Amino acid sequence: MTSVSVAILQLFREKGGFVSGEVISRELHVSRTAIWKQINGLRRAGYVIEAVPSRGYHLLSAPDLLSPGEIAGYLKAKLIGRRLVCLATTTSTNSDAFRLAEQDAVEGTVILSDGQSSGKGRLGRVWSSPEGVNLYCSVILRPGIMPYEAPQLTFLSAVAVARTIELVSDLKPEIKWPNDVLIKGKKVAGLLNEMNAETDVINFVILGIGVNLNMTAEQFPPDLRHPATSILLESGRPVGRARFAALLMGELDRLYRDFRTNGFGPVRAEWQQRCNAHGRELAISDGGADVVKGMFAGIDSYGALLVAGAGGKIERILSGDVRIL
Ligand code: BTN
Repeated sequence: MTSVSVAILQLFREKGGFVSGEVISRELHVSRTAIWKQINGLRRAGYVIEAVPSRGYHLLSAPDLLSPGEIAGYLKAKLIGRRLVCLATTTSTNSDAFRLAEQDAVEGTVILSDGQSSGKGRLGRVWSSPEGVNLYCSVILRPGIMPYEAPQLTFLSAVAVARTIELVSDLKPEIKWPNDVLIKGKKVAGLLNEMNAETDVINFVILGIGVNLNMTAEQFPPDLRHPATSILLESGRPVGRARFAALLMGELDRLYRDFRTNGFGPVRAEWQQRCNAHGRELAISDGGADVVKGMFAGIDSYGALLVAGAGGKIERILSGDVRIL
């Protein structure tokens, strides 16, 4: 897509309704013939644009493309998304991001793909990534923090995903420790952060984010360990992928800039509010019998789950299955 087409789409979105050829020509400094050519190019790409003599052009509908042009039309972030790499398909956006970061890609670079052939989940699992329906993206960050503080950024991503779901729907997402985003108890998004670090310095962190946006029930693999869902299945409405991607980058941008100034405190407070265990009694098992029971008492700065036992003693949980009693 040309930069003029991107600018025309931006004008349509800003102004709404009909935009005259005269206004487009004046604001973008291009001739009326050039506008006509760009409009035809957009139509060929799937945009439905009405043209009425004496009124101008009116964008009636846009295809659900995950292209830099579509995303830029909604993007307000300053740092996150300043370079966008949009792929038709790939093995894993996390692997791509890792490679680009090793080649010195700037902080804030985001890699997105329409689909993934080997999407990576936590604990070596596969992340189901059918084409054209969901969001698969990886963000390159170069935070000036110690390697042991890196999990804080996973909590930050979970908060950003939850906020974005609220921006595009009436749904009430919750976060399950350590970092699944749930809607009505079913997983809607997963986060996989990877990093390249030395003993006391992080070279870069990759925030890998997968959100099930428009996946239908038949598109979920039959052998899922935990129930999963999509925003479409829960709200009954499809979500524009480019808009969701841009809004997510906006929330990541806000949270990350605040994190760099004020540290983990604000993210931690919001994560705790949004956690499905807030104010609840928990049982934690190591795959067999329950080993710890107690009230949810938040997370510490390493991302460990804190549970207050009967005598008020706080246990730190680093791994395990958490059930709400
Ligand atoms: C989980 O198991 O919950 C984490 C899933 C993370 C999936 C995302 S999709 C985009 C990015 N690329 C990958 O290969 N994985 C992450």
